[in-house]
Amino acid sequence: MDTSPTTPAVGRRRLLAAGGALALGGALAGAAAGTAARGDARGDARPQPPAFGRQTVAFHGPHQAGIETPAQAHAAFLGLDLHDGTDRAALGRMMRLLTDDAVRLTRGEPALADTEAELAALPARLTVTFGFGPGLFRAAGLDDRRPASLEPLPPFAIDRLQDRWCGGDLLIQICADDPLTVAHAQRMLIKDARSFARLRWAQRGFRNGRGMQGDATTQRNLMGQVDGTVNPPPDSEVFARAVWTDAGPEWLRGGTTLVLRRIRMELETWDLADTRAKEFSVGRTLGTGAPLTGTAEHDEPDFDAQDALGLPVIPEFAHIRRARVADPAQRIFRRPYNYDDAPAADGTPDTGLLFASFQRDIAEQFLPVQRALAAADQLNQWTTPIGSAVFAVPPGCAPGGWIGERLLG
Ligand code: HEM
Repeated sequence: MDTSPTTPAVGRRRLLAAGGALALGGALAGAAAGTAARGDARGDARPQPPAFGRQTVAFHGPHQAGIETPAQAHAAFLGLDLHDGTDRAALGRMMRLLTDDAVRLTRGEPALADTEAELAALPARLTVTFGFGPGLFRAAGLDDRRPASLEPLPPFAIDRLQDRWCGGDLLIQICADDPLTVAHAQRMLIKDARSFARLRWAQRGFRNGRGMQGDATTQRNLMGQVDGTVNPPPDSEVFARAVWTDAGPEWLRGGTTLVLRRIRMELETWDLADTRAKEFSVGRTLGTGAPLTGTAEHDEPDFDAQDALGLPVIPEFAHIRRARVADPAQRIFRRPYNYDDAPAADGTPDTGLLFASFQRDIAEQFLPVQRALAAADQLNQWTTPIGSAVFAVPPGCAPGGWIGERLLG
């Protein structure tokens, strides 16, 4: 667990002052005076609200943060294209600079030349994660060190891709529990990347606000489904085997790959489906997220179970049957965010998932699942991929080092 809560010390004097204010308010309210007195009597023992804003996630380490890190509430995914002439030496300078920014900002300190230094004070578990798209290897003259399966995904019949959400030479994934923190980090990083690269796309996503429910509770997506039940569990051996590369190019060991798909949800037609149709499409109930053959979310689905008519209880084309992978170490790790942009003038929502999938190897793990889903998945009726990008995510670095040093250094 790389989250280190750094709840700020609340001074005894401030606490007493707060108690005094409460007592005064209580006295003015007359009847509430007794309550205020009890509050005073509790003094320093009174529980403090959790100060999520000051929490930090360590930047340095063998792996980049923002992958195994419990997902923060807000995210910005930025795809950048390198300017012509940004060669290997320039890329090294860029990554040194961006790493330095990320180190400072994730600690709650302003970046160098930060024009709004005060906005850095609440890191709110900020993580900044960098990824390299196929074009970066070409620009650096390092195509021979590109992981073999790092190339744009093959087209799928379900795709309706829009160029404005596809590709990118450099990925910057910024996650934090506060949207102000994300906005500030985004601005600083884009500014410092400006001499080397221009923004191709920016995609903002969100999950439930921090503290809205227990951290271990699986979130719901905007179709109302419990989404994220079957995933390699962070901090486990299975996660390490599924996500961190230990083969292929030496510079990527301890890193991973990211497939980012922007998938629109067709909520207008989803609204027309009844609960049964919705549950059949996934193979799980909407209420608890339990498989149709079970009663609790984490019950193991029984894919052989049949109903009275001899039909499979979890339909042949249910999403969880099509997406199922037998070996847990071959699974992808899904770390999705919801998006909900301005609706069209007639009210049609612009809503969906920023489907972020991390895996050791795209060809071995992501593609087989995506092929099976593209061929036949009931959920395809209501979901449309409109963006697609792939990145190699280098390992982390030690203090004084920088992200990508083993490739570009
Ligand atoms: C908007 C698009 C999508 C939605 C709304 C969606 C929703 C869901 C839901 C509700 C579940 C069941 C609960 C869970 O285990 O998380 C699930 C499972 C899963 N989904 Fe998706 N999904 C989408 C796209 C995709 C894509 C593009 C892939 C991979 C290419 C994928 C791979 C998986 C996998 C591997 C599982 C776990 C299957 C298992 O039980 O072993 N999903 N998804």
